[in-house]
Amino acid sequence: MYTLQSFYEANTKYEDAPLYIMEQGDGSLLAIPLTIRLANDTRFSENIKGLFLGNAIISPALALTKLGFYLEELGYIDGLGREAIENFSNTTSHLVSRNLFDEAFDQFVSLGEFVNEEAGAIAVNLAYIVQKITRNSTDSYFGQRSYTQRALLTDAQSFMEGTIAPRLGISDVTYDQHRDSVIEAFRPVYMQPTVENVEYILNNHRNISVTLYNGNLDAVSNTPGQLAWIENMTWYGGNDFKASNRRTLSINRLIEGYYQQYNNLNFFWINVAGHNAALDNTEAVRVMLKMVTSESML
Ligand SMILES: *[C@@H]1O[C@H](CO)[C@@H](O)[C@H](O)[C@H]1NC(C)=O
Ligand SMILES: *[C@@H]1O[C@H](CO)[C@@H](O)[C@H](O)[C@H]1NC(C)=O
Ligand SMILES: *[C@@H]1O[C@H](CO)[C@@H](O)[C@H](O)[C@H]1NC(C)=O
Ligand SMILES: *[C@@H]1O[C@H](CO)[C@@H](O)[C@H](O)[C@H]1NC(C)=O
Ligand SMILES: *[C@@H]1O[C@H](CO)[C@@H](O)[C@H](O)[C@H]1NC(C)=O
Ligand SMILES: *[C@@H]1O[C@H](CO)[C@@H](O)[C@H](O)[C@H]1NC(C)=O
Repeated sequence: MYTLQSFYEANTKYEDAPLYIMEQGDGSLLAIPLTIRLANDTRFSENIKGLFLGNAIISPALALTKLGFYLEELGYIDGLGREAIENFSNTTSHLVSRNLFDEAFDQFVSLGEFVNEEAGAIAVNLAYIVQKITRNSTDSYFGQRSYTQRALLTDAQSFMEGTIAPRLGISDVTYDQHRDSVIEAFRPVYMQPTVENVEYILNNHRNISVTLYNGNLDAVSNTPGQLAWIENMTWYGGNDFKASNRRTLSINRLIEGYYQQYNNLNFFWINVAGHNAALDNTEAVRVMLKMVTSESML
């Protein structure tokens, strides 16, 4: 809020520009409450037009219930591995239902290790399920580090210095890569479902579009798991959304995904993309952004 406020003060030409909040993965923990606060604040309520949530962490324990099936169908584990993952997922759901969110979080972050060491996948990158990796390259949080490096073609520090800094016109900055401490700070709330907050925006701010987009190769925020809570949401357009046709996102004749829409809710299936759909299928995400921000969802 403070950053935005000072941004507008320094850049008055953007005063009337439409404002969209976009996140991916666990950025939802910040992006959703931020959108609600902006919509409720007269300084920003005229500007805020939409929220984009990519492979978002909204109901992570629920998404986990689909993981065993997903991995077995892809041939990464056998029937016994699937049973082990379903046990793991049942324990997680049970902790969440008893509001033991810290314990559920500890269980959740051990998922990568569990899938590889206990369920028999050996070395699978849950963030980008089709990537071939060596043993133990998944050591960091679900293999995020190696995945990001593959997608960026460099490490995060070089990406910030070489790509982001010139765009922002900054230099000589030390970048803080304290991802682990950020994740740790969210430990008490990370596993708490935030479906109600999405419903709140849909119902109370009908002029704010909520666009969920999901790469189909992310095993953690897997697409069937996302659709499970989306289709169960309590909002005024629930039935109409479910009844609306799924359309094809075709770009230069290639099928890049699909989408479904009703009033202020959009869902995009993004093909051949993992946890970071914007890096993996830039074209699909670019077209999605254009469709939503120009309000031409046809
Ligand atoms: C909206 O803002 C008012 C005034 O600051 C506050 O009392 C209220 O709790 C806010 N509502 C939400 C949903 O944030
Ligand atoms: C799953 O849990 C059940 C009940 O606790 C147990 O009997 C079974 O051995 C477990 N299966 C695996 C593969 O861990
Ligand atoms: C997990 O829980 C579901 C629903 O409670 C149950 O049907 C299933 O048998 C459990 N799976 C295992 C492997 O324990
Ligand atoms: C993977 O790492 C763990 C500890 O981080 C180690 O105990 C284990 O032996 C390693 N496995 C392989 C196959 O290198
Ligand atoms: C929503 O948008 C419509 C059409 O653009 C406009 O007439 C209406 O005032 C807006 N409502 C709110 C609450 O901003
Ligand atoms: C569906 O929504 C109801 C009511 O909002 C909730 O009690 C239930 O747990 C939800 N089920 C799933 C699978 O999310």
